[in-house]
Amino acid sequence: MSLPHGQARRSLPLTPAHHSGRSVLTCIYRCGNACAHDAPNTSGNEYFGDVLAAVANRRGVLRAGAVIAMAAVATPLVTQGAAAATESHVQPDERAGVRLEPSGTRFTPVTPNQLDQVTVPDGFQHRVLIRWGDPVRPGAPAFDPLLQDGASQSMQFGFNNDFCGLIPLSDDRWLMVNNHEYSNEFFMWFGFTGFTQRTTEVSWATHGMSVVVVECHPDGGLRTVMDSQYNRRITATTEFDVRGPAAGSTYLRTTADPSGTRVLGTLNNCAGSVTPWGTVLSGEENIDTYFGNAGLVTDPVARARLTRYAFPAGASIRQWENFDSRFNLAVEPNEANRFGYIVEVDPRTPTERPVKHTALGRFKHEGATIQVAADGRVVAYMGDDQTFEYIYKFVSDGRMMSGDSSRARSHNKRLLDSGTLYVAKFTGDSPTAEITGAGQLPTDGQFDGTGTWIPLARNNTSFVPGMTATEVYVFTRLAADAVGATKMDRPEDVEPNPCTGRIYASLSNNSNRGAVGRPGVDEANPRVNNRHGHVMEIVESGNNHCGTTFTWRLLLVCGDPAAPDSYYGGYPKDQVSGISCPDNLAFDRHGNLWVATDSSALGFNDGLFVVPLEGEHRGHVKQFFSAPFGAEVCGPVIADDFVLVSVQHPGEVTGFSADNPASHWPDSGSSLARPSVVVVWPAPD
Ligand code: FEO
Ligand code: CA
Ligand code: CA
Repeated sequence: MSLPHGQARRSLPLTPAHHSGRSVLTCIYRCGNACAHDAPNTSGNEYFGDVLAAVANRRGVLRAGAVIAMAAVATPLVTQGAAAATESHVQPDERAGVRLEPSGTRFTPVTPNQLDQVTVPDGFQHRVLIRWGDPVRPGAPAFDPLLQDGASQSMQFGFNNDFCGLIPLSDDRWLMVNNHEYSNEFFMWFGFTGFTQRTTEVSWATHGMSVVVVECHPDGGLRTVMDSQYNRRITATTEFDVRGPAAGSTYLRTTADPSGTRVLGTLNNCAGSVTPWGTVLSGEENIDTYFGNAGLVTDPVARARLTRYAFPAGASIRQWENFDSRFNLAVEPNEANRFGYIVEVDPRTPTERPVKHTALGRFKHEGATIQVAADGRVVAYMGDDQTFEYIYKFVSDGRMMSGDSSRARSHNKRLLDSGTLYVAKFTGDSPTAEITGAGQLPTDGQFDGTGTWIPLARNNTSFVPGMTATEVYVFTRLAADAVGATKMDRPEDVEPNPCTGRIYASLSNNSNRGAVGRPGVDEANPRVNNRHGHVMEIVESGNNHCGTTFTWRLLLVCGDPAAPDSYYGGYPKDQVSGISCPDNLAFDRHGNLWVATDSSALGFNDGLFVVPLEGEHRGHVKQFFSAPFGAEVCGPVIADDFVLVSVQHPGEVTGFSADNPASHWPDSGSSLARPSVVVVWPAPD
């Protein structure tokens, strides 16, 4: 296929390995080089080792953009969801009726590569929909890498777009909502030599979220709409309301906000979801990287809690504490307690303050995705993305109200204020001796077992001895430690399949599993030095998402298909695309699982993959998209007519920078690499 913008193909050296395939710079700026430090979870709790039930959840449908609309949303979402987009290239043998592949997966997989370009299957085309710095708000200046300032950036698309979601406005228009996870000044500025007031103001403005109206393009792709009243930036200084059981508590009060209910900004927004009531949930993840001087906090209990959340004893990576004392823990030790939540934004009410939900706990939230239970209560599934951390769920007290009336909308936007927070404990069903750490399946042929959801708190009631309910909600990791939750290999997206109600969890990697002094293997995390990660399938008992028991099995044990320690759902491994370091998940309208990767350790660029979950093709992983060099793939939206992919941190490779670039994607030439959202759609015949 032709290359975008006349860009020349070029191959670059292998990304220097850093635990998975992640560059050292990504490690530092994304998560504070978490893998290189002792995991903050030093608790002594044990670690253990068709379908179509009527699923009320429409989140996946919204996100997938399928035709089914919210009950009373007047306009449909995307015509025909994505599956058509991904089956236009029918393989020849299938035309003969041989081993017909499942709908939505009928394309020839791309060849993994290290090119500084986007690669999509034959029969598809792509283009950049929006890039870092592109105008979002009316009146925003065009991007100029030499004239960056906070005021301009606060009106432009932020850096390092991660989650991407669509909410319909009409038949052919949507609100596109993106997270902007983190800044990396070495790749944002030419000649960067240190943090200044100016670079810090840009950093504050480039974090957060964007809302941008997009519409169908006559060529079949999408384009942005620049003059919309909905277009909006949320940054590190935008006002948020705090709601739920911990709102106003002593742990959330600061000098600037003695009420403990009003916070400036959202940080490190990673994954997210569109709710069935048409709002967006976004996870505040590596919050520890924004606050300095935890070691100077005098209260030993407060200091220990900060340590459990990995806040640095000394200076923070970006040194924000030098430019605003609220980021200096020695001055404002409670400011850090005001980050690490699931935030909710209603893109259809641009003037409404977004919300931080304390009822869903505080940890390094990857994201939260909603399943509506049979009785109408809503269930949020969540992962805490750090090695040896936990998987959680929240079950609301209230029931979702159908329709899109203002009454229904305000009711539904209160559903996450009260409910029960649980953490997961996984128990394998095979003898411990058969979980050797080498990755070979136990004699029953599955890494599988049972599990329980352990209640932590419900509103003002704590179920954790020695902790108040408020403490459970603000120091949730400590609560989960106390009840013996299972330490997992970096939980990322945890998402219900809208077609089946089964839950899928990405466990991205954990090279410290089984290392000296670290937790060993269990059946749910069965490999030592787990560089490639795995994907788990969870089935709630009786398909009751409000219940407290479940079964689980590993769908994928990722890695080189030729290696004995990988497992692809039992599908012949010589016929799959290799996948490593699963991160974001999505579903198409057929119920196929789509998996985006972060820092693949297979030696190739990250990608987007699809895997059927039912029938003889279960486990048949196929690669649909390959990212530019040094980039991560995030936030896929799998609509029927197109696929949206968030391309994060192109060229972020150890030893490189804006001055010594590893990537010029997407604009080629000598341009600065820019994180961007890409739309992929079928090429004309
Ligand atoms: Fe921001 Fe868990 O990836
Ligand atoms: Ca087993
Ligand atoms: Ca992620």
